[in-house]
Amino acid sequence: MTTTATTPGGSRARAAIAAKTLRTDRWWLAPLVTFVGLAAWVTYATVRVFMHQWFFVDDYHYLTPFYSPCLTDVCGDAAMFGTPLPKFFLIPEAAFSLPFLLLFRLTCYYYRKAYYRSFWLSPPACAVPDGHKRYSGETRFPLIFQNAHRYAFYAAVIISLINTWDAAVAQATGLGLGNVILWVNVILLWAYTLSCHSCRHIAGGRLKHFSKHPVRYRFWTFVSKLNTRHMQLAWITLGTLALTDFYIMGLAAEWYSDLRFIN
Ligand code: FES
Repeated sequence: MTTTATTPGGSRARAAIAAKTLRTDRWWLAPLVTFVGLAAWVTYATVRVFMHQWFFVDDYHYLTPFYSPCLTDVCGDAAMFGTPLPKFFLIPEAAFSLPFLLLFRLTCYYYRKAYYRSFWLSPPACAVPDGHKRYSGETRFPLIFQNAHRYAFYAAVIISLINTWDAAVAQATGLGLGNVILWVNVILLWAYTLSCHSCRHIAGGRLKHFSKHPVRYRFWTFVSKLNTRHMQLAWITLGTLALTDFYIMGLAAEWYSDLRFIN
């Protein structure tokens, strides 16, 4: 028995091979690991965002990035930008920033590859057939909105500035392990944000002569180097975000004390 497939252009291009794939290696492992990793992170983040407690350590002004900027009535001293939102279990304390961060990661070029492969099986791996009969790419609703990534990048820059401000304010109380964790997280968030493909295009795109734009050229060179590590930074920052949040949750819940270097 033979099989054929139609390409988006309409031509019958696939070789007549009966087997679904000729790959004999463990091609399914990478999408499976990606699926488990992303699902675990999203589950943890969702639980934490709607927990409405253990997000702030008053003594050292540690605020978890999952609740920043903190904008509801339960924020107390963590509210550095006022409390325009009411307390309601469906409203996260960071209701203004979380949708943009979600959009930024969802439309990220790396995460698109990751979840197209591991969640939608479209396709799950190279030389393995698509899990769906039809393929329209990102040319139609809703995936056409992936093109909004550049605007999500601008929002992510603003949120990274707020996270930096959080780390700086906490620094004024002295130096503890929590400060180190906050700064490491912020630096890596900046590295992930600046390594974005949209950032690289904003820095160096549409230029005819780099020699006439030395500052943009230098920035583009810097961003291009970071860009080669974008996938790693995408995963590392998921880890540092969860670790930062967990450490602050543990302190706020009094499961342990902060290790202080300077009081
Ligand atoms: Fe990944 Fe922009 S491409 S954040």
